[in-house]
Amino acid sequence: MRNIAPSILSADFGHLERDVRMVNESAAGWIHLDIMDGTFVPNISFGLPVSAAIAKVAEKPMDAHLMIVHPEKYVERFAALGVQFISVHIEACEDLSSTLSQIRAAGAKAGIAINPETDAALLKPYLKQADFILVMSVHPGFSGQSFIEGSLEKVARVREMIAEAGANCFIEVDGGVGMQNIAALEAAGASVFVAGNAAFKAADPKAAIAALAGV
Ligand code: DX5
Ligand code: ZN
Repeated sequence: MRNIAPSILSADFGHLERDVRMVNESAAGWIHLDIMDGTFVPNISFGLPVSAAIAKVAEKPMDAHLMIVHPEKYVERFAALGVQFISVHIEACEDLSSTLSQIRAAGAKAGIAINPETDAALLKPYLKQADFILVMSVHPGFSGQSFIEGSLEKVARVREMIAEAGANCFIEVDGGVGMQNIAALEAAGASVFVAGNAAFKAADPKAAIAALAGV
């Protein structure tokens, strides 16, 4: 069974509790929180108070994807909400090593998110300090975009780099993931799959999540 992380960004914010409960009852492994600040990305989503409301209802591990500048100011507060997986962007961190240590010290698993146009080789020095790598397969900022095809090779390249470094990070892929590419992404080395529109915009979201999970 694949680990599907439905992204709340594609939920109906007027019915957040209902949609989080749908994820609870589904075959999803995690629940993905897209945090956007309007500076690192050209969109503002939601922040700590809304994440706290989600945390009250969520029964699956929460995965916060911080698309924000200065994530080091906020990681402890997300961890305090019970968020178990926190990723920060390599492009946004002034001192990535220390931010990763900070996430681990706060009791969460530390992820490095990387944008489509960022060279995977830049991850090399940090692989042993991370628990996972979040490969962006769209430009961050919005749900419902088309998968960037080169992302498949990027996942494979990151998997090779992890093996070469003797690190044991897993790979999460985020953006434009659906039935049309999930098996190929899995074969390339991804083991966590974010699904925004493919989950929430389906006629039957629970059935769509089950199909993505392969159950
Ligand atoms: C994009 C976000 C993604 C997005 C995924 O900035 O990080 O998590 O919500 O949505 P879909 O699956 O619709 O591309
Ligand atoms: Zn995301």
